[in-house]
Amino acid sequence: MTLPADHPSHALRAAGSPMLAACRGDGGRRHTPVWFMRQAGRSLPEYRAVRGSGSILDAIADPALSAEITLQPVRRYGVDAAILYSDIVVPAAAIGFGVDVAPGTGPVVAEPFRTEADLDRLVPLDPKTHTPYVLETVRRVVAELTPMGVPLIGFAGAPFTVASYLIEGRPSRTYEHTKAMIHSRPDLWHELADRLADLAIASLRSQILAGASLLQLFDSWAGALSPPDYERFVLPHSAKVFAGVADLEVPRIHFGVGTGELLTLMRDAGADVVGVDWRVPLDVARTRIGERHALQGNLDPALCLADWPVAEEATRDVLRRAGDHPGHIFNLGHGVLPETDPAVLERVVDLVHRETDRSR
Ligand code: CP3
Repeated sequence: MTLPADHPSHALRAAGSPMLAACRGDGGRRHTPVWFMRQAGRSLPEYRAVRGSGSILDAIADPALSAEITLQPVRRYGVDAAILYSDIVVPAAAIGFGVDVAPGTGPVVAEPFRTEADLDRLVPLDPKTHTPYVLETVRRVVAELTPMGVPLIGFAGAPFTVASYLIEGRPSRTYEHTKAMIHSRPDLWHELADRLADLAIASLRSQILAGASLLQLFDSWAGALSPPDYERFVLPHSAKVFAGVADLEVPRIHFGVGTGELLTLMRDAGADVVGVDWRVPLDVARTRIGERHALQGNLDPALCLADWPVAEEATRDVLRRAGDHPGHIFNLGHGVLPETDPAVLERVVDLVHRETDRSR
């Protein structure tokens, strides 16, 4: 299946979206595109003003609210892409697995995934019935963004990262139950990961068909794995996700934290763009990844809390290390920290646009 002729991605490409151009390594872009992981929510006062209290899942189920939150950073920062205000656990929550997001903690599961019997809790996702509010949010956001020339990034959690929440039951630093299952019950692990790949595929396809122009697969915690374990137990499932959306021909970004040793494997899983955290300088990442893929990153988010000259020099350093390769999307190495002053992110966007301006 290819995207219909009236899909917004065609108009955005024709209008020269720097984000879409950089994903494809197209040298004609106006400037290096910039957006921030976790730009929606977090540090914005206008976010706190509308967010209300309670689970983020309730906010996500409200399309008017989610669309507004998705658009806030585009208005405030002038970023080159929006990311949907949602969460990686939304599909699992929507099919009734029993996940919530506890304010200040993150995803929590009262009855974690432990045995074969838990597979029955992972039914296929039917986006039209399980997550109609996500599709409505995408439609509303895209109607606003397309005339501005800004694409929407759809996203999903990769099988390993989502599984880590379902198995541990809460955020973890060691992933001990997950790793124990991978190694002592590989059959059960592969079945679980396969179902989570299907969940991600269904969710991503529905976001794209509703109007998102590119996607990011978040395998945030894959850096906890050794390369051999990643290659054997995780890569095939993430590769299934990328293959499952390939026919839609939208750019695919693959991101994880602490994944310096996994970068080539994450590329080989089928991404067009490889996300790099701040631990690997971009010029080093480039030698690992080669010339044929785009890179996304990689300012240390903590440096946005330092004095501006520090953040400024670090931003310039990222741009220098990206060099003149057309496949660079400026981003933080991970998400915006909640204490970040929005004025600093505004200055980072301006600096990246000014320093890489090719319209002069
Ligand atoms: O701007 C955006 O990034 C868009 C929205 C978005 C959220 N979560 C909203 C959110 C996205 C893309 C995510 C993805 C996500 N969720 C990831 C992958 C990205 C990454 O940062 O590595 C992960 C691992 C999760 C799971 C998750 N959800 C955690 C760990 C937390 C708690 C973190 C914290 O410090 O509070 C959440 C809750 C969450 N998801 C918040 C937001 C804005 C914060 C709480 C809230 O506003 O209720």
